[in-house]
Amino acid sequence: MTKVAVEFTLNAREQNEFVESGSTLLAMLRDRLDLYATKAGCHQGTCGACTVIIDGEPHLSCLTLAERCEGREITTLEGLSLDGALHPLQQAFMDGFAAQCGFCTPGMILAAKCLLDRNPEPTRAEIADAISGNICRCTGYEPIIAAILSVAERMRDPVGKRA
Ligand code: FES
Ligand code: FES
Repeated sequence: MTKVAVEFTLNAREQNEFVESGSTLLAMLRDRLDLYATKAGCHQGTCGACTVIIDGEPHLSCLTLAERCEGREITTLEGLSLDGALHPLQQAFMDGFAAQCGFCTPGMILAAKCLLDRNPEPTRAEIADAISGNICRCTGYEPIIAAILSVAERMRDPVGKRA
């Protein structure tokens, strides 16, 4: 199997890897780098569990070739907490019981972060649209939308600026 050198930024750190040509970013994160927050669900681009942030946008890591990550900036859920403190979205999901089994949660939170980064005042419909590619079997989505709305509201006061 051909190996390809790839250099990228992962959770704010420079990373150099030799990856098998044709392997996915999802496999690189979980199998090579032991970053297990990114979940392996359908492997077909339909569940959203493998969502990561690449250059500020949500991407499905099961459909992203590792070798195409050259020069990209990648963030996984492990990169969201700051000095051990939970990101406001993580805290809001906990406080609002927006996670049950938790399998969809990393992808949901990263999709929500991308939305809030580009639109700090989303409507319910915009939140629903932003997470529409992320399937949840447990919550019925209402607690998830409420948690994201609560963070958006807190972002609008000075205490919530971290989000
Ligand atoms: S594992 Fe990537 S979309 Fe389901
Ligand atoms: S909390 Fe279980 S799939 Fe979403």
